Amino acid sequence: MNNFIFQNSTKVYFGKGSVKEYLACKTKPYQTVMLAYGGGSIKKNGVYDEVCGILKEAGKTVVEFSGIMADPTYAKVQEGARLARESQADMILAVGGGSVMDCCKAVALAARYEGDIWEDFWARPGVINVDPLPLGVIVTVAGTGSECNGGAVITNEEKKIKTGRDYPQLNPQFALMDPVYTYSVPVRQMVSGGFDILSHIMETYFSEPNEDNVSDDIMEALMRSVIRNLRAAIQNPEDYTARSNLMWDSTLGENRLIKMGKKCDFECHNMEHQLGAYTDCNHGRGLAVLHPVYYRHIYREGLPKFVRFAQNVWGIEREGRTDEELALAGIDALAAFIREVGLPTTLRELGVSDRSMLKEIADSCGISQGSYKKMTHEEILEIFQECF
Ligand code: NZQ
Ligand code: ZN
Repeated sequence: MNNFIFQNSTKVYFGKGSVKEYLACKTKPYQTVMLAYGGGSIKKNGVYDEVCGILKEAGKTVVEFSGIMADPTYAKVQEGARLARESQADMILAVGGGSVMDCCKAVALAARYEGDIWEDFWARPGVINVDPLPLGVIVTVAGTGSECNGGAVITNEEKKIKTGRDYPQLNPQFALMDPVYTYSVPVRQMVSGGFDILSHIMETYFSEPNEDNVSDDIMEALMRSVIRNLRAAIQNPEDYTARSNLMWDSTLGENRLIKMGKKCDFECHNMEHQLGAYTDCNHGRGLAVLHPVYYRHIYREGLPKFVRFAQNVWGIEREGRTDEELALAGIDALAAFIREVGLPTTLRELGVSDRSMLKEIADSCGISQGSYKKMTHEEILEIFQECF
């Protein structure tokens, strides 16, 4: 196993009723709370009323920062930072999915930092030497695992770059996670989030080292859990067992635990992020299109792991197959699952209509240092063309 340092500073309160039970206590030290949310789903499903009721009863001054879009922009981050400063908010409460949580992490930093956070922390890795505004999150959709990491994926529309950085100082102080809050997520978005979870695990699993390590064992169990529980939640969106497993699978996928000792790939994420910078491609749906095609490009370089994936995740027996045939059967099983749960299989289905833009998008993609096969921009373009 490779050397590592592990820390995760977010305190999680998980389960039915966790917001009612813990929100007042977690916001106690603060007077002015900046309540941040997205396009309004929390007003339809009652979460907004529940949260506001608790804050009101606790005597808080609430400042609202709303309209955080999917794939939050740098402009939105700057708007939030201005509001946080003007209102002298002393904490941010982010209620939503990855987009709301990520935007608020960047706002928490921008509110306390004098310079340009894009240039100093997202365009390139930086060193955070200020105390960001305290951040607490209430998760409403499972997928990114953003509640338990310092990662924030921000889109700079002017520069056409969507990129994420993970700063431990931006970990939320607390995360309240009530699986019941995810019941109202539309099936299409639930499936997209479910695939994002699976993708985070696969992007970690398919990387060095291949020798025996407990992270790979945990990941096989996690992948089976995501597959099983996504199927169950599609059948019954109010299946508490399925929803709670998906929610915690999501956290475990991105709270750094499974990355310990692993190199990590995340080339598909690099590709999806740039698709998202140029188009309005949905994160999980974009990943679903890319993964099987990407894996057919790299499986030979990571053959033993792809064989394990076929056998231990999809339960495929060898039955006279060669390693290569078994590896391909595993990738076929992944592709069949993508179709089964109604995810797209082509870029056109994602709304990417203009083939001629693919070269510029491919050239803008980051190259992963942890992939089994080091990509070139030419090969990324080939993958995009095959996905088209
Ligand atoms: O905006 P509202 O109205 O709230 O609707 C949202 C949004 O339309 C809706 N939704 C959320 N909870 C709901 C609900 N609808 C009904 N009921 C509920 N309970 O779901 C839609 C999608 O929300 P969003 O936050 O955009 O989704 P997700 O959690 O998938 O986040 C995606 C963003 O996170 C980034 C992605 O790139 C993308 O920008 N990522 C962040 C990561 C991280 N910080 O670690 C890692 C990921 O790989 C990812 O890149
Ligand atoms: Zn993701």
